[in-house]
Amino acid sequence: MTFQIDESLHWTDHYVEHGMARIKNALPSSCCDTAVAAIQKALGTDLPPSQWACPPLEPNAPERLRTVSVFEHQEREDHGQPELQAVLDTIYDQPEIRDIIDTMFGSPDHWDGSRPYQLFIRLFDPNAKQVLSEPHVDFVNVRIPVIGNWFYFQVSLVKTEPFSGNISIYPGLHKIVQKRLIEQPNWWYGSSPKQKQEWNEMIAGIEPFEFVADPGDVLLFSHLAGHAGNASAATGRSPRVAMQCQAIRKDWPSKIDATDPNLTPWQRSLAHNGSIDLGCDEGKLQADAYRQRQDREAAAKA
Ligand SMILES: [Fe+2]
Repeated sequence: MTFQIDESLHWTDHYVEHGMARIKNALPSSCCDTAVAAIQKALGTDLPPSQWACPPLEPNAPERLRTVSVFEHQEREDHGQPELQAVLDTIYDQPEIRDIIDTMFGSPDHWDGSRPYQLFIRLFDPNAKQVLSEPHVDFVNVRIPVIGNWFYFQVSLVKTEPFSGNISIYPGLHKIVQKRLIEQPNWWYGSSPKQKQEWNEMIAGIEPFEFVADPGDVLLFSHLAGHAGNASAATGRSPRVAMQCQAIRKDWPSKIDATDPNLTPWQRSLAHNGSIDLGCDEGKLQADAYRQRQDREAAAKA
């Protein structure tokens, strides 16, 4: 059983309640067509994405398709594809995307204007199974921000099927993770047996939502929402081709006043556990935490 979107809620309320929201047809398909054409050019193929697949099923596929996994988990600066980047960068210029960001942050004044994204392409893998992976949060063996200053949005550029390698999200986990962080400020997500057991208890009973998408569908999710990338094993062999983007605020708040009736959707999603006053600069705290993790890892290697 997978989680079903509550269509009775406006997407902002859905994000607040579940730490995630899906907006169908948020972007015009022409915008996705332009992006896909740029990706095809970069890959050196005229094949439509529905025919992109890993060898050996497509022995005559262009060589670039065989190495397309280089796009997976690469930061945009590393693509080495300036033409492609110039096209993909414009996703943030789409009025529909700006509207989503401004709505989440409460006004056009709060977005910092940066455009961090990753292009996720996951091709059909004949050896993969039709299962959803275990969820994680993106803070392994490091402090997890209680408030943070961003949200994620993923834009599907193509039509996908169940098990196309879509992202899956664990709705409501943003409240549970934040509660744990408030109660145990030093709690970390990690791979030790104790951490694993605690994580399994936190996710127990939560049904995942799989982002099976049409071109232009957008999925928003909180940094505290558990999520997973999945293997691509759809019946029709369709791949995932999506942009994972981050919308970042100019400032990093240290407080959330849960009694304020004028909270933005982004703030409301962080106010389920009552008012928060960290009494410190969380952005600096987080930067220090990353530096300390780097030092620990370097020391472990030495
Ligand atoms: Fe992740």
